[in-house]
Amino acid sequence: MDFFQIVEERRSMRKYADKPVEAEKLTRILETANKAPSGGNMQGYEIYIVRKLKDRQALVKAALNQEFLAEAPVALAFCANPSRSAVKYGERGATLYSIQDATIACAYAQLAAKALGLDTVWVGAFDEKAVSEILRLPEGLRPIILLPIGYAGKEPHPRPRRELKDLVHEVK
Ligand SMILES: Cc1cc2nc3c(=O)[nH]c(=O)nc-3n(C[C@H](O)[C@H](O)[C@H](O)COP(=O)(O)O)c2cc1C
Repeated sequence: MDFFQIVEERRSMRKYADKPVEAEKLTRILETANKAPSGGNMQGYEIYIVRKLKDRQALVKAALNQEFLAEAPVALAFCANPSRSAVKYGERGATLYSIQDATIACAYAQLAAKALGLDTVWVGAFDEKAVSEILRLPEGLRPIILLPIGYAGKEPHPRPRRELKDLVHEVK
């Protein structure tokens, strides 16, 4: 698939088939995330892989009962690691760049998954403390996004977007 087709066809998937994700595909997704830019190349984030059903079920509870988190065979958790970004950029690195680093890495992962015939949904609505406990995160890491990955369980509907003339502003 060409890049623009991948972007066009990616949709949030909230129903997954009962089919595992191939190890090589998951590796490819992680390698793509690792190509994302980051503030000062400090890569102020960590990726956690959640595979165990018990942990995925716990994520459902921690994320407003979003059942698809247990349905998808694997989920990635993108976590900010503020201390990495703070080394070069102090407070701004800790509070802003580390979150941006985690976010853009997840965006790369999401598009890589689509390019490999997989689907995902970006999950931001969750209880941070509960998710940190499920992931057994060390002190200082902050979960930013959960990304379930799997094969589509249904045909998703495209969501509308704002018109460019509403979204884009010419600086005059
Ligand atoms: C910051 C952020 C948080 C989101 N949180 C959730 C979420 O908790 N649950 C969910 O089902 N979708 C979540 N989404 C997905 C959006 O609902 C979805 O991307 C949007 O409706 C556009 O649909 P599309 O992804 O199919 O184009 C989130 C997306 C972003 C960027």
